[in-house]
Amino acid sequence: TFMNELRGFKDLEQKVKQRLQLDHVVIVPGDSDELSWVKQEMGKACVRYMKEILRRDDTVAVTGGGTIAAVAEMMTPLEQAGNCLFVPARGGLGEHMENQANTICAEMAKKANGTYRLLYVPDPLSEESYQTIIEEPSIKDVLELIRGAGVVVHGIGDAITMAERRKTPQEVIDTIQEGKAVGEAFGYYFNEEGHIVHKVRTVGIQLEDLQHTNCVIAVAGGKSKAKAISSYFNLGQSNVLITDESAAKELIKGS
Ligand code: F6P
Repeated sequence: TFMNELRGFKDLEQKVKQRLQLDHVVIVPGDSDELSWVKQEMGKACVRYMKEILRRDDTVAVTGGGTIAAVAEMMTPLEQAGNCLFVPARGGLGEHMENQANTICAEMAKKANGTYRLLYVPDPLSEESYQTIIEEPSIKDVLELIRGAGVVVHGIGDAITMAERRKTPQEVIDTIQEGKAVGEAFGYYFNEEGHIVHKVRTVGIQLEDLQHTNCVIAVAGGKSKAKAISSYFNLGQSNVLITDESAAKELIKGS
């Protein structure tokens, strides 16, 4: 029955929470690899959670990707948390327009009745341009807001899928493959143990910044992302996971 299913998820949520050492886990039914509405359900669950934790004048940094786009799609006005500011977590990372953090950030802010600031930087950046760009006053301003964000909402992807989606140069794909990367988040590629194999050079949140963030929410589901999710959490930088049943069942296999 429906009640049994709900109870079953509580149990599954508890197991995933222990496995990945998290503060909070939400699991929605189904597999987002197979059905696109499951992704929208994760989006809704994320919006619900954000409404619980957001306070007036909070700053929220968001990444790109289809899952976080679904969070933006499902956003509704934040009544208890007025005047929230939305910023993109990092520079573009080579995604198509609809998957870019800037696009998603602006949409989410509008639906939430909040405000937003965007980042206009080319990427990936050479070391030299990176150093110049982060000193640019208009960029510096937004970067400060991003690094001071109290809440971060981000996606996690399969390493090779992401490298290909971003039209990554072959030599970098080689590095990613040789390093046996399985997961990707914030432009970082991780192997199964959670070690960083490659990092895309761009402005915005760096992994080490997350240690100072109150609430880091990962939203990722689908059986195909289970390995990616567990590799990312080996580093233990996010404290909340919103996922689906299929990914969750894979995640607790063998425990
Ligand atoms: O490129 C932004 C990003 O958040 C990546 O860090 C992540 O791997 C990917 O998008 C997830 O995309 P999707 O939700 O479409 O699988």
